[in-house]
Amino acid sequence: MFDPHQVKKNFLILDQEVHPGKPLVYLDSAATSQKPKAVAEVMARYYMTDNANVHRGVHVLSDRATTVWEMSKEKVAKFVGAEKDELIIVRNTTEATNGVAYGWGDHQLKKGDVIVATLMEHHANLVVWQELCKRTGAKLLVTGLKEKAEVDLADFEKLLKTPKVKLVAFVHVSNALGTVNPVEQMVGLVKKHAKGARIVLDAAQSVPHMPVNFHDLKVDFMAFSGHKMLGPMGIGGLVVRKELLVSGEMQPWLFGGGMIEEVQEQSATYSDDLSERFTAGTPDVASMIGLATACDFLSRLGMDNVMKHDQELVKYSYEQLSKVKGLTIVGPKPEHRLGSVAFVHDEVHAHDLAQILDSEGIAVRSGHHCTMPLHRACGWQATTRASFNVYSTKEDIDALVKAFEKVNTIFGL
Ligand code: ALA
Repeated sequence: MFDPHQVKKNFLILDQEVHPGKPLVYLDSAATSQKPKAVAEVMARYYMTDNANVHRGVHVLSDRATTVWEMSKEKVAKFVGAEKDELIIVRNTTEATNGVAYGWGDHQLKKGDVIVATLMEHHANLVVWQELCKRTGAKLLVTGLKEKAEVDLADFEKLLKTPKVKLVAFVHVSNALGTVNPVEQMVGLVKKHAKGARIVLDAAQSVPHMPVNFHDLKVDFMAFSGHKMLGPMGIGGLVVRKELLVSGEMQPWLFGGGMIEEVQEQSATYSDDLSERFTAGTPDVASMIGLATACDFLSRLGMDNVMKHDQELVKYSYEQLSKVKGLTIVGPKPEHRLGSVAFVHDEVHAHDLAQILDSEGIAVRSGHHCTMPLHRACGWQATTRASFNVYSTKEDIDALVKAFEKVNTIFGL
């Protein structure tokens, strides 16, 4: 197991005061993680020594850029248990799910088909399907929750028995509740009751916190964001099962340079190279290298250790925050969650809480966390969320708990 205090030294941004006498306590890693020095440095070095466009030149710099692009892509694919050809580079999880909708859904769905999602989905894994339904005439069914914390598997099973279920979308780790969903069981239910339906997994909050292997999970599509896993913003991945790419079931949804085979005035054919076919336009090479460096960083720590560290923090924060007067923690018990702990206060609105905590140097997120239907169904106007990463420590949580003294003073509690 690693020492988070040592790990923290790699994150220079964390060593600062955000208000006089108030050191930064960053507890907003589910929104975006901080980046280790190695990631920032490798990106700066690329621009200072190797920058050129990929696959488009015979000169040395272009050759170097192409090599690091390909090597980095291979490394990231391996990190999530996919083959290089199965990884389509996108900007983030939202772009990845949109890719499924445009590259798969628009061609595969028709009026009367059914998409099943769950009530704990991030808008990126919900609004996209609403729009796909508008375009195709398909219908979206949303699975309810048990105890405002976990997917109601009986309801999920019932919805899967609906005729014509073609797509099932769910999140691996909820960004709002922290719930770790039983992917294996859910995939098993899809295969039992909705044979042939394709499965999209939103892995934005699992890839940074636990070992994730695309092939082991047996889903068809998996989406993740680089910026939540110590990598730069603006790069992420859509992993697609190779069979769907080879058969043409999944088609490119962005067209133009870099992805073609032959172009005529009125028509074009697209590259047989799967990697090229799904990379239209100039890719973000620097971010790709940054993301590969983040994967190296996490691999050195060991994802099993990362998960254990996270579980300890979740347990500790759950215990400590449970003692704070007026707070109710939302979501499941610590053993079923990862990455974050969100709560509501009897007397104080989430935004006020976040504001007061900020004045003590503590960065948390408040609001609906892009899960409005979840918040509405659970009767929460807004929640406040503390979220962790490899550099988070128990002292960070102690500081959070202590800052509630100020909340109590201000509100006279
Ligand atoms: N999806 C990100 C979050 O949960 C932005 O904060």
